[in-house]
Amino acid sequence: MLKILKCELLKYLMFASITAVLIYLFLKEAPGPSKRLTPIRKELYEVISPSTYKHMLNQPELCKVTQPFLVLMIPVTQEDRQSRLAIRGTWGQENVVRHVNIARLFFIGEPREPNKSLQRDLLEESREYGDIIQMDFLDTYHNLTIKTMMMMNWLATYCTSARYAMKIDADIFLNVPYLVEYLHSQAEKQDYITGSVITDARPRRDIHSKWYLSEELYPENKLPPYVSGAGYVFSIDLARKIALASRFVRPIPLEDVYVGLCLNVLNIRPIFSWTLLPYRNLFEIRRLEYDRCTFAKRIIVTGFRPSQLLNIWDDFQQAGFSC
Ligand SMILES: *[C@@H]1O[C@H](CO)[C@@H](O)[C@H](O)[C@H]1NC(C)=O
Ligand SMILES: *[C@@H]1O[C@H](CO)[C@@H](O)[C@H](O)[C@H]1NC(C)=O
Repeated sequence: MLKILKCELLKYLMFASITAVLIYLFLKEAPGPSKRLTPIRKELYEVISPSTYKHMLNQPELCKVTQPFLVLMIPVTQEDRQSRLAIRGTWGQENVVRHVNIARLFFIGEPREPNKSLQRDLLEESREYGDIIQMDFLDTYHNLTIKTMMMMNWLATYCTSARYAMKIDADIFLNVPYLVEYLHSQAEKQDYITGSVITDARPRRDIHSKWYLSEELYPENKLPPYVSGAGYVFSIDLARKIALASRFVRPIPLEDVYVGLCLNVLNIRPIFSWTLLPYRNLFEIRRLEYDRCTFAKRIIVTGFRPSQLLNIWDDFQQAGFSC
């Protein structure tokens, strides 16, 4: 009797250890959903590495004095002075939401033809408003990925005390009170990124497309989910994580897709912000005719010239009482 039991036990132990070895071998071969990561070549990383570029203008103390709840980061060029003035006079004002500290920063590169007198004006503007970061890379459409990575690095270096950051283009209407309310209602405080999420997109192989992506730069025929670059909001921890992930992702000229590729490395899925009944995309990337109460229920709406922003702003101030 004992012998039979011993025999069964032995068989069982053998079976168990073989299974364990097989599971071990299987896991070793297939490391689950986490991807195999290989750092990109040094000369490719240098294109987006913070050590490649120098600050011409910086605001290193901005987040030391106050800890912003939200940092708005707006890419503009040196000559976009009208946009900067319109944003400072509308949604970029410091006191749009009472008791909530919101910081505003414009990110600028170097113009193709540097002009001493324009650079002096910019320095003066920077002294007056304290909201300009300038770095010495060529400020072109195709270099927006560099600019976006410089924003991430800036946050990770100078502003980890903030809660959220938002990358937002200059031609956007932003409903700051609604955004703040929305963020207060969110449970996720880490690994969180939201906006207008684009899924199942494919790279454009037509060389004349604004969003052209060559097979050499990006051989796969599907893009990971990403948030439209018009405006997206993320928890501050992601700035450092995205900057780290960029060591594994070859730079491509589409900045929002590039952030999506970094999120993919991190296994973080961007979250679509919408409401049901009625259905609304809160980060509206279609153009909408201005209407106070329609805009009151959106976080962003795209397609505004500086003068248009200034024109609707006073009327929009009534939204809090009348919608
Ligand atoms: C620099 O910009 C100013 C203002 O736009 C212009 O008047 C001036 O001619 C420019 N200088 C050069 C050297 O291009
Ligand atoms: C991007 O910036 C770098 C650094 O200034 C410059 O050498 C390069 O020509 C720029 N690329 C494009 C496509 O503008």
